[in-house]
Amino acid sequence: MALAEPRPVTAPRRVSILGSTGSVGCSTLDLIARNPGVFQVEALTAHRNVAGLAAQARKFRPAIVAIADPSCYETLRDALSDTGIEVAAGPKAVVEAASRPADWVMAAIVGAAGLAPTLAAARQGAILAIANKECLVSAGDLFMAEAARHGTTVLPVDSEHNAIFQVFDFEGRDAIERIILTASGGPFRDTPLDRLAHVTPTEALAHPNWDMGAKVSIDSATMMNKGLELIEAHYLFDMAEPDIEVLIHPQSIVHSMVGYADGSVLAQLGTPDMRTPIAYTLAWPERMDAPAERLDLAKIGTLSFQNPDFDRFPALRLAREALQTGNGATTILNAANEVAVKAFLEGRAKYLDIVAIVETTLEIVDQARTASLADVLALDAEARRVAEQYPGVRGA
Ligand SMILES: NC(=O)c1ccc[n+]([C@@H]2O[C@H](COP(=O)([O-])OP(=O)(O)OC[C@H]3O[C@@H](n4cnc5c(N)ncnc54)[C@H](OP(=O)(O)O)[C@@H]3O)[C@@H](O)[C@H]2O)c1
Repeated sequence: MALAEPRPVTAPRRVSILGSTGSVGCSTLDLIARNPGVFQVEALTAHRNVAGLAAQARKFRPAIVAIADPSCYETLRDALSDTGIEVAAGPKAVVEAASRPADWVMAAIVGAAGLAPTLAAARQGAILAIANKECLVSAGDLFMAEAARHGTTVLPVDSEHNAIFQVFDFEGRDAIERIILTASGGPFRDTPLDRLAHVTPTEALAHPNWDMGAKVSIDSATMMNKGLELIEAHYLFDMAEPDIEVLIHPQSIVHSMVGYADGSVLAQLGTPDMRTPIAYTLAWPERMDAPAERLDLAKIGTLSFQNPDFDRFPALRLAREALQTGNGATTILNAANEVAVKAFLEGRAKYLDIVAIVETTLEIVDQARTASLADVLALDAEARRVAEQYPGVRGA
């Protein structure tokens, strides 16, 4: 892991947020708004949400806003014409915004669409708070090598990886035996298996503990999210696949754990609110106030744990197998899953098709090199092409 020495904190700290209009992006800006004078926003980016991005720009006064969809350019430019804020559009503009010098960058674009901008941010030598797990799943080897080469500090935002980061002894790495990722089990943890064929996007989006964007909510329902996190943990903490365990913990209070050679297990706990891990990365290496509800264990009473069931959550098995196979397989897994989730949300695929699409794509597409961004994007595109051939999926 590219864990650099703590740097002197300049005030105000210059920050950029990639995917600022999403769930993680908005939580990040909420923390920034609560700390006037501490942060100065350099760049904000979005995909198509012109109104949301324009409102954020008016409030936080970044130097630049970039919107990925070029057809949104004129509306955004007109909405900010009296502000002096630079407006840019198109995927290249998002990458350029990510490349602007900053002290801290939040990578919160969803999906492999975040790969090029997140990689650009990783080449900056700043602090990179990474929520965009698909970037690591798709290009983990390349991403971690580039971050290390440029002296960039990578701080995990995903609550599980942030928890591990907080209790992982980087100096005493040899004494770490395993890491244990906790998982809520999502909305279908106890649903009768014969009902799963008929569950709807609305049911799948209703996560019991976390309020998140649509893609990660569906991934949580299938537990592909935990599979992606398993792969993410492998790259972030350089842990071998068998040493990363997954444990269902319905209350989402223990965010994850690290097991040591003497039998000690260290955990990080908190109420489920993404502002806590985001605040940890924003203030690192210090800590700052975050408004999450305080943990009251007596009120909660019971914390429970159980092993995941591969019959209910086959996505977890696929992710383990892909990680054993190598980075090419995880690129394919991620791309096929993105196609499948989109098809499910748009009513073109059933819930159980999601895993079937990923499994079929992994069988058909040959692994290929993932040494450069061009390699990864080519393999990603091929996996998407194949996934879209799955019966019923075509027509996006
Ligand atoms: N939400 C959580 O609590 C949570 C927790 C842990 C990890 N994560 C991870 O954090 C990432 C973001 O999740 P989220 O829930 O915040 O997602 P989200 O609410 O769907 O927001 C995604 C953001 O990415 C932008 N975006 C989407 N497609 C894009 C494209 N093609 N090019 C450029 N920008 C694009 C969106 O812009 P528009 O608004 O314009 O569409 C939005 O700003 C994901 O990788 C997720 O797995 C999320």
